[in-house]
Amino acid sequence: MAIRHFLQFSDFSADEYAWLFERAAAIKKKFKAYEKYHPLADRTLAMIFEKASTRTRVSFEAGMYQLGGSVVHLTTGDSQLGRAEPIEDSAKVISRMVDLVMIRTFGQDKIERFAEHSRVPVINGLTNEFHPCQILADVFTYIEHRGSIKGKVVAWVGDGNNMANTWLQAADLLGFTVHLSTPSGYEVDQAVAGIRSRDSYKVFNDPMEACRGADLVTTDVWTSMGYEAENEERRKAFADWCVDADMMRAARPDALFMHCLPAHRGEEVEADVIDGPQSVVWDEAENRMHAQKALMEFLLLGKVA
Ligand code: CP
Ligand code: NVA
Repeated sequence: MAIRHFLQFSDFSADEYAWLFERAAAIKKKFKAYEKYHPLADRTLAMIFEKASTRTRVSFEAGMYQLGGSVVHLTTGDSQLGRAEPIEDSAKVISRMVDLVMIRTFGQDKIERFAEHSRVPVINGLTNEFHPCQILADVFTYIEHRGSIKGKVVAWVGDGNNMANTWLQAADLLGFTVHLSTPSGYEVDQAVAGIRSRDSYKVFNDPMEACRGADLVTTDVWTSMGYEAENEERRKAFADWCVDADMMRAARPDALFMHCLPAHRGEEVEADVIDGPQSVVWDEAENRMHAQKALMEFLLLGKVA
């Protein structure tokens, strides 16, 4: 089987996503029933973190153990990655000893260089440009709650970076529309997002207008990891991009609220929204694990079962 990587959402086809969502549901069912399922026995996942993480680490680590495999956890601080060993050399060495690699890093170019020199599949656990594992879990969560996402409207309120770029790629592939509202200066760059046409998204200056009629409203932190020096400037620029009860009222009555987490109540979202009845953020976080178990199974074994 040829090596496949998951470096951005556009790396897989709509048919492959349909498969992954079905597998994620089946694997989740086994987990809830305490059924042992060890298709990745004797396989090892290396997880490389150059940025902090709670969900990504726990979901990959617990998920790999549940599939019968094991994990190695590396950070910049405790490996030669932080001491300028070339990424190409690291890729060659690490991929001779493990079956799968997950990387959370800064520039997308870095993960691409790693993948180019890797003998095993590489998964993007977040870069400045993309967060494909998160959107895999988010779309799976939408489907669980509301059925197919095809033809639906997702309102994006906030920064035009990794999460927004990945939502755009998903909309392009899976046939839904993103209503994008970002503060001036923080817009999505269509070229970075890797989107050829504007058919799958619309831009709104007013976040309330972006939410009007939406089936899902979602947002993210004002200051992403790696941009901390811009914190003060961003607090001012993003002040009106806070998802509140009025925005949720502008959306459809059955609209869901999602946030990849970690969240900052009173900044990008009000507490009554994230802790309110339309919020599915805890299911969304849990689904990282089920969706990524399906992803790891697919990358290592193809379409099994
Ligand atoms: N959503 C997400 O990726 O969370 P962590 O930064 O905790 O991994
Ligand atoms: N956009 C955020 C997502 C964190 C999961 C960041 O890059 O820090």
